[in-house]
Amino acid sequence: MTFKKKLNSKFPLILAPMAGISSLPFRIISREFGAQYAFLEMIHARSLSYESKKTRELLRTNEMDHPLGVQLLSKEEDFVKSALKRLNEYKYKYDLLDFNAACPVRKISSRGEGAGLLQSPGKLKKLLKIIVKESPVPVSVKIRLGWDNTDSAGDIAMCAQDAGIDAIFVHGRTKVQGYRGEVDYKAIGCIKKRLKIPVIASGNILNAKRAKQMFDETGCDGLLVARGALGNPWIFKEIYAYLVKGILLKRPAIGEIADAMQRHFDLSIECFGDKMGVIRFRKFYVWYTKGVTGIRPLREEVMRTTTKEAMNRVIEKFRFTKILR
Ligand SMILES: Cc1cc2nc3c(=O)[nH]c(=O)nc-3n(C[C@H](O)[C@H](O)[C@H](O)COP(=O)(O)O)c2cc1C
Repeated sequence: MTFKKKLNSKFPLILAPMAGISSLPFRIISREFGAQYAFLEMIHARSLSYESKKTRELLRTNEMDHPLGVQLLSKEEDFVKSALKRLNEYKYKYDLLDFNAACPVRKISSRGEGAGLLQSPGKLKKLLKIIVKESPVPVSVKIRLGWDNTDSAGDIAMCAQDAGIDAIFVHGRTKVQGYRGEVDYKAIGCIKKRLKIPVIASGNILNAKRAKQMFDETGCDGLLVARGALGNPWIFKEIYAYLVKGILLKRPAIGEIADAMQRHFDLSIECFGDKMGVIRFRKFYVWYTKGVTGIRPLREEVMRTTTKEAMNRVIEKFRFTKILR
């Protein structure tokens, strides 16, 4: 089924790929709050070819976790081919294969991978053609607007479309901007005007108003929600309520936050076991309690927490402590 059909919504909201963050528990809780699509963490084609234990962990999914995108990173044709072979053998199904031409991390982009490929559109097109040919599921690419300027953003996007992909994800910043600075709505809008395939926009989708602004100013076909969802799965419901009914929902009460945290933590234990479940949840506790006055002692306690029972207690302490917001 094409990517567009699977989106199945007037305002598709997709949980973005985030390395070190987009694990199964986070994807499940985001879906429960309204994300229609989610991504696994980015996987390097080389590690997929060798299928390390860590890679198998990254690929962990379940039947609730659909539709689901896998994202590959590479610049080498051979590794791309063998990674695809491995993915095809993998027992769980995924629904979209995305190729990363957006990662700005220096050690990746400087060796010509991720955003480094924006400087070689011909090479990007060649790699995408291989993926389109070998992939059993629809293929997409995630790009930025360019290396240090947006002059060739439209041409890069056209080049990707010519390779036969199904959709394009556009982070509306350049590689040099990293994750800071203004998102260029106009440049995303220009790409949308030139392309026939769905254009999904990314960048500063931090609340419902920003989401509306992105749809209005770019004409995009959907949104990738990234940092806005950290400790804030309500963002999906909030964006929907605002776009569909024009309602700005109130921020969740402390009890609702504690309920979501508990659910997320239970999923973390189920997925990673007691020890790693606790360790991997710590950063989410910090994100869930962002902006809460007087939270510091509890956060410090979380960082020392090593057992499931202790984490449950810190979540309950949050629920019942008189904390100002
Ligand atoms: C910690 C972190 C990890 C990320 N990892 C990836 C990744 O692996 N692949 C990718 O395409 N984008 C990745 N991104 C970029 C996001 O998908 C998104 O495009 C970017 O954060 C802009 O959206 P935002 O301003 O709403 O956060 C990452 C972003 C963050 C903050």
